[in-house]
Amino acid sequence: MTQSLTLRRPDDWHLHLRDGAMLAAVLPESARHFARALVMPNLVPPVVTGADARAYRDRILAALPEGMDFTPLMTLYLTEETDPADVARAHEEGLVAAVKLYPAGATTNSASGVRDFDAVRGVLERMAEIGLPLCVHGEVTDPAIDIFDREAVFIDRVLDPLRRATPGLRVVMEHVTTADALAYVRDHDRDLAATITTHHLVINRNHILAGGIRPHYYCLPVAKRETHRLALRVAATSGDARFFLGTDSAPHTDALKESACGCAGCFTAPNTLSILAHVFEEEGALDRLEGFASLNGRAFYRLPPNAARITLTRGAPVTCPAKIDTGDGPVTVFDPGFALHWRVT
Ligand code: DOR
Ligand code: ZN
Repeated sequence: MTQSLTLRRPDDWHLHLRDGAMLAAVLPESARHFARALVMPNLVPPVVTGADARAYRDRILAALPEGMDFTPLMTLYLTEETDPADVARAHEEGLVAAVKLYPAGATTNSASGVRDFDAVRGVLERMAEIGLPLCVHGEVTDPAIDIFDREAVFIDRVLDPLRRATPGLRVVMEHVTTADALAYVRDHDRDLAATITTHHLVINRNHILAGGIRPHYYCLPVAKRETHRLALRVAATSGDARFFLGTDSAPHTDALKESACGCAGCFTAPNTLSILAHVFEEEGALDRLEGFASLNGRAFYRLPPNAARITLTRGAPVTCPAKIDTGDGPVTVFDPGFALHWRVT
């Protein structure tokens, strides 16, 4: 049995770092293992303009502990008022790596997102011209659509029409949770990729709802039934370069999670690599972990691979703190529900 595994340093293609005291507390948890991360813009207020992204990047770099090597790749939050020229300028300056589309009301801090997709057509066309990827939170918000169907319906109602209307637009379907989304990516091999989170490889909807509500497993898109989780594991471990890691590590304080109306998000930054090694080992695909975590995403984003390497070793159970302290209160670390044996050394 493999006892040690060396990979190029991984990148996280979907990460929530927040701001202020929370940023300071969670940033080292990602920077310890990841070389780069695509940082989500859903702050309050959101990161909409190039100037917003520059200021946020400066705050992240100021919060990075001395000696840690980590590059935040910034995103802009797409609104119906977004100026295509500002987006193009931010891209040209190397400031932003993607634009994020939140359908208004789909998730945390998405109120400023898009209601009328025609209103953002000019921005999308400009992005297609310059090759700037659109990262999509792919869920409809129609209250008539069951929450477990919102991703599949989004593909038919929104994503496919939007891609047909904007040829050449490069799209990442973020945090896919369904076999439907995987099939859509596989069927369209140009300008399309998908991120898969760590937690969606581990939990299905029973983990959230059976035997009591477990708010720390609640995220959006919500975990689906077991058949979908198994399909995600097949895709992640397949070696298909269109699938890559975006943890969607999304810290919220325990007070906000353990509430009558709890926030969506799983905080997986501290133990993601240990969990992934466990999953890939179970699937007999440890040799494909480097593609998923370190190579496929950077290829889609047209960036060089990281030169540095990390080594994971297998041994006695790894103890990961159940919570981390932040200036805003404790944040619970995602519990995969099984013992972890792989540690980053
Ligand atoms: O679970 C989630 N948490 N899904 C999202 O789309 C947003 C994220 C957050 O920002 O907390
Ligand atoms: Zn997210």
